[in-house]
Amino acid sequence: MSSVIDIHPHHAAMKLVNVLVTATILVFAQANSRVWAQEAGNATEGLATAEAFCSQCHAVRKSESPSPNSQSPTFVAIANSPGVTAAALQAALATPHAGMPMFILTSQQRANIIIYILGLKQQ
Ligand code: HEC
Repeated sequence: MSSVIDIHPHHAAMKLVNVLVTATILVFAQANSRVWAQEAGNATEGLATAEAFCSQCHAVRKSESPSPNSQSPTFVAIANSPGVTAAALQAALATPHAGMPMFILTSQQRANIIIYILGLKQQ
């Protein structure tokens, strides 16, 4: 009798499935691009992490000099010393220095700090 009623809910259900599938794909695509953006490093987050973990010894901001701890080079000085590359900083941040264990940083935080420091290079 009610072929219309039979078809209609089915149609609606398929529509819902389509919407859900599309939404799921969009969510995954977005999450993915966010991961990509983060792996590339985020200088703003790098500064925040540096303020939290490095600033008691290093001057971390461009405008700041000298460092709070006179043994510590400013981040501007580090950025502008010859041979400073992402790889060199990656190596420096993988090993403890000045009694500071660098493993407390996640690889994401390291990437962010590196992008931040490299941004302090004077052209
Ligand atoms: C307890 C003080 C202290 C803290 C905290 C500290 N540093 Fe250092 N850092 C130093 C000193 C002192 C030096 C210079 C002598 C040395 O390398 O050990 C230095 C040197 C460096 C260098 C130059 C390369 C090297 O390894 O010599 C980099 C890069 C660096 N620090 C990055 C960081 C970053 C990033 C943080 C925060 C995650 C940080 N430091 C936290 C004291 C500190």
